[in-house]
Amino acid sequence: MLLTLILLQGFSHALAANHGSHWTYKGPHGQVHWSDDHLDCGGQAQSPIDIQTKSVRHNPALPPIEPQGYRSPGDGAFTLLNNGHTVEMSLPPSMFLRGLPQTYVAVQLHFHWGSRGQASGSEHQVNGETFPAELHIVHYNSESYANVSEAKQRVDGLAVLGILIEVGNVANPAYDNILDRLKNIQYAGQKISIPPFDVHELLPGQLGHYFRYNGSLTTPPCSQNVLWTVFRQRVRISASQLERLQGGLYSTKVANSLPVPLVDNYRAPQLLNQRVVFSSFPVGPSAYSAGEIVAIVFGTLFGCLSIFLTVHFVVKRIRMKRIREQKDVVFKSSSRRAVSGNSHRP
Ligand SMILES: *[C@@H]1O[C@H](CO)[C@@H](O)[C@H](O)[C@H]1NC(C)=O
Ligand SMILES: *[C@@H]1O[C@H](CO)[C@@H](O)[C@H](O)[C@H]1NC(C)=O
Repeated sequence: MLLTLILLQGFSHALAANHGSHWTYKGPHGQVHWSDDHLDCGGQAQSPIDIQTKSVRHNPALPPIEPQGYRSPGDGAFTLLNNGHTVEMSLPPSMFLRGLPQTYVAVQLHFHWGSRGQASGSEHQVNGETFPAELHIVHYNSESYANVSEAKQRVDGLAVLGILIEVGNVANPAYDNILDRLKNIQYAGQKISIPPFDVHELLPGQLGHYFRYNGSLTTPPCSQNVLWTVFRQRVRISASQLERLQGGLYSTKVANSLPVPLVDNYRAPQLLNQRVVFSSFPVGPSAYSAGEIVAIVFGTLFGCLSIFLTVHFVVKRIRMKRIREQKDVVFKSSSRRAVSGNSHRP
């Protein structure tokens, strides 16, 4: 019986490997090897990225994101699934987005996080700063395509909202709708139905300020067809809420005798290459911190002072040299004999 189970498991593993669908974040199937089986993962427009605000281009024409149907997503239950890579919640097509070039309908949301005591966990970074977790709400282009399976294959098929999560002092009740249920789906492949709730509450308050760029799925197959919106404002959950996300799930199935915690399911930032990141809000001088401003002011002053002093001393030396030359001429012509006499003195 046990042998059959082991054989079966081995077989399904082999199958998974053959289809290139077995991937992890670290180890022999880790993120650096994803492109072996999934060509797109080695592409030039991958996600996530480290958003460098100094290089971001402000586009005042980018309108606020307007989620529709998020507050009352119908009577149908949501399905919460541990898929071995993340916790994923299905979303009904009554939820969709306005404020993008086309209408995008909601498909699912899921999380990325780190492990206990670590500051990292988010996929996107801002000026090299990481956050403890990140929420992704995935949508497909319903104006151009019939369903998500078709949209997934097209360049303008998907739009994802990225929400950076940080730790605050108080619990965020909206997130408990999900976090309270993790104990029921500890192992990969497990799923439960949960009552629908106000999904809008998972979003930050300021939906008008965001970064926008063309990127990809952050997991295999890494398809480069995602229009990304990463909100500038972060959402806060409590430290104990974060710990439930970091410590609540396994990436292995219930039958597995060696359970592997589901942690650190975030991809490293990818090269921006030729892409431009736009912002819906001005990120000009405020992108510099107070310390940087002080450094710039003093650096400039010091630079000017050095140039002034250099010029001053050079001019002075030239002048003194001229005066000395003039004196020399006078001296040489008037008392040549004295000089030669001096120089020959033993
Ligand atoms: C998605 O739409 C395509 C094109 O209309 C269709 O062929 C396909 O069967 C649909 N797939 C699903 C899962 O509904
Ligand atoms: C994304 O790519 C499309 C197609 O190349 C382009 O029209 C659009 O302006 C790009 N959007 C951003 C935000 O770079």
